[in-house]
Amino acid sequence: MSRLAAAAAGALLVILAVVGSAAAKTTIEPCSTADSCAALLGYSLYADMKVSEVAALFGADPAALLAANALDFASPGAANRILPAGLLLRVPTRCACADGVRKSVSVRYAARPADTLATVADVVFAGLASADQIRNANGLAEADPDALLDAGQILVVPFPCVCLNSTDNNLPAVYLSYVVRVGDTVESIAASHATTVTDLSNVNAMGSPIVAPGDILAIPLSACASTFPNFASDYGLLVANGTYALTAGNCVECSCGPGDLNLYCTPASLGTSCSSMQCSNSSLMLGNMTSQPTSGGCGVSSCSYAGFINGSIATSLSSGLQPTCPGPHQFPPLMEPSTAAIHGSYLAPSPSPGPGEAGGAVPGSSDSGASSHSLAGSLSPSVHRLHQMILILSLVFYLHM
Ligand SMILES: *[C@@H]1O[C@H](CO)[C@@H](O)[C@H](O)[C@H]1NC(C)=O
Ligand SMILES: *[C@@H]1O[C@H](CO)[C@@H](O)[C@H](O)[C@H]1NC(C)=O
Ligand SMILES: *[C@@H]1O[C@H](CO)[C@@H](O)[C@H](O)[C@H]1NC(C)=O
Ligand SMILES: *[C@@H]1O[C@H](CO)[C@@H](O)[C@H](O)[C@H]1NC(C)=O
Ligand SMILES: *[C@@H]1O[C@H](CO)[C@@H](O)[C@H](O)[C@H]1NC(C)=O
Repeated sequence: MSRLAAAAAGALLVILAVVGSAAAKTTIEPCSTADSCAALLGYSLYADMKVSEVAALFGADPAALLAANALDFASPGAANRILPAGLLLRVPTRCACADGVRKSVSVRYAARPADTLATVADVVFAGLASADQIRNANGLAEADPDALLDAGQILVVPFPCVCLNSTDNNLPAVYLSYVVRVGDTVESIAASHATTVTDLSNVNAMGSPIVAPGDILAIPLSACASTFPNFASDYGLLVANGTYALTAGNCVECSCGPGDLNLYCTPASLGTSCSSMQCSNSSLMLGNMTSQPTSGGCGVSSCSYAGFINGSIATSLSSGLQPTCPGPHQFPPLMEPSTAAIHGSYLAPSPSPGPGEAGGAVPGSSDSGASSHSLAGSLSPSVHRLHQMILILSLVFYLHM
């Protein structure tokens, strides 16, 4: 059933993508330092896919992918959940600096039977790379983008990548490369990402705030920045408001928001062999805090994460006086991955955006709400109908047994 749905979804997307494939615009960022930086790719699923399949497409870790979308990454079997076609996910990636421009860490993709450059670009990677860019990245001769590729042929797929100093208006921000979908306007994109038309126009150097399907916009998302030393292997860790990140070999999870934009890290218990997470000379573990009211304020001691250094977890113990004692830490809410089996609820009208939903690209959140007029949104109903038909058929079959 999922393969049938995938085929239907694929066919529809090809048609829509061809209609919308004029010369698409994208933001190119000059760079000079060798430092890599963190960014996000906005990817909309072209078929019902397992979490691990999406992760493999981008060379990402399934748990990290879920964490970046505030989806429950610690639940058993999370990597095998099936996510519905059309779902918009944020894929964490890193940008390097090559030949003076920001470049994503490229991903390798093995062509499957019936793949063409056009379908790999527009369907499999949902417009994050164009057929021309894939051709250039692989030094392929000019050819019909609709010509069949050899099954098994390995392609390097380049993605857009924007960091812009990991700040927006001097505040920490992580940039999401977003492929404009049919029905999107700059206003709707700004509204669903808690930013403004002015900010999007400035960031993307747009003369007028007009976009076309297939354009790629860099969208700044407010984020929590880390202050790890530059020899830490997770130097520059950046977590978007309302989401999580896994680091230190999946031994540490860090979250951002909703109350403040201070990165907050705790032991993650996903890693297999984790070094000590206790602050030295203290009984406090990562994320622990003690507070003691005194006449001069509240004496607060806390043990925080200071980076993954030489394969071990660095901690830092800090103590100080605060005006009032802090309450328990508020974590961003984690959602259950909505599975393809409950398509109906994914396609149900989105709940009105609440305060807890600004930061996450999850079903029913502002992101997927905005997709109701979009490319993927327009294919979902047909997939949905297919599911319904199969459901009805199997029900009829069941009743006849
Ligand atoms: C880059 O960000 C840092 C803070 O992270 C800030 O001090 C600096 O001014 C920014 N540079 C530019 C060019 O925006
Ligand atoms: C831990 O305490 C001992 C003795 O009190 C001291 O010598 C040492 O420097 C302390 N270590 C750290 C990391 O603070
Ligand atoms: C310290 O942190 C650990 C791990 O997050 C947690 O299990 C424990 O309850 C915390 N202890 C205190 C006193 O907060
Ligand atoms: C990492 O470990 C190596 C060998 O154990 C040591 O030479 C090096 O100084 C360490 N680096 C840091 C940043 O601690
Ligand atoms: C972070 O997200 C929360 C809700 O998810 C929101 O209330 C808050 O305003 C956001 N903070 C910023 C700086 O965008």
